[in-house]
Amino acid sequence: MKVKIRNFEMDYKNRAYFLIIIKILGVIFMKIMVITSSPNKEGLTESCGKAAEKGIEKGNGEAIMVRLNDLNILPCEACDQGWGICLEGTCKLEDDFKKVYEAMGEVDGYVVVTPVYFQDMSESAKTFFDRLRRCEANKFIREKGNKIQNKPFICVAAAGGSGHGTISCLTNMERLFLHLNKMDYTNMPKFDYIGITQNNKSYMLDAIEAGALKMVNGE
Ligand SMILES: Cc1cc2nc3c(=O)[nH]c(=O)nc-3n(C[C@H](O)[C@H](O)[C@H](O)COP(=O)(O)O)c2cc1C
Repeated sequence: MKVKIRNFEMDYKNRAYFLIIIKILGVIFMKIMVITSSPNKEGLTESCGKAAEKGIEKGNGEAIMVRLNDLNILPCEACDQGWGICLEGTCKLEDDFKKVYEAMGEVDGYVVVTPVYFQDMSESAKTFFDRLRRCEANKFIREKGNKIQNKPFICVAAAGGSGHGTISCLTNMERLFLHLNKMDYTNMPKFDYIGITQNNKSYMLDAIEAGALKMVNGE
């Protein structure tokens, strides 16, 4: 059974009963993909991913967890004169990219977490999203309707104690998601950009959990 609560209006009391019933029945509303991109299995990036997973599950959503560093994803070869079959929404490279890309089409929203490296996203994030952007953000695919546009997302940049470069990392993530959404500032889906550091994680992990919960509740 697939039920969506986006745009689903109810008065407060009925909504409370409704939520209790669906909790008991275990109905899953939304599937959200949580993509993390750190080599560190015990670090801040993973904690952010787990906070998002907790929020998603609290809201009876299903969290699809993807650790890019566990996958084999090759760098883009910029085929021919600059464009290859990415113009048709696919890639010639045979690796784990396609299975993640396909799965992205099946979910209702995304949480993307990267460690801040050199004031930017991590290498595994850049490698994956470089290829995704080519398949999704070219004019032919945009006209047909791509897999990712119009879905809510949360971008998280997880930095060291100083936090220097958190903002520039989030700026690059913003540019990426704008490309994935037709550069259409006015009709962007709901989103958030969260910067977290070793110094503020005691309260920012709660913010990530709350943001993910809000996303699955369609709020
Ligand atoms: C190669 C490299 C570059 C980094 N560059 C930055 C940086 O520009 N700004 C910053 O605040 N932290 C920087 N850091 C620190 C990481 O962002 C921080 O340790 C973060 O917690 C890493 O995520 P993790 O805990 O998942 O490993 C860097 C770390 C590495 C390994």
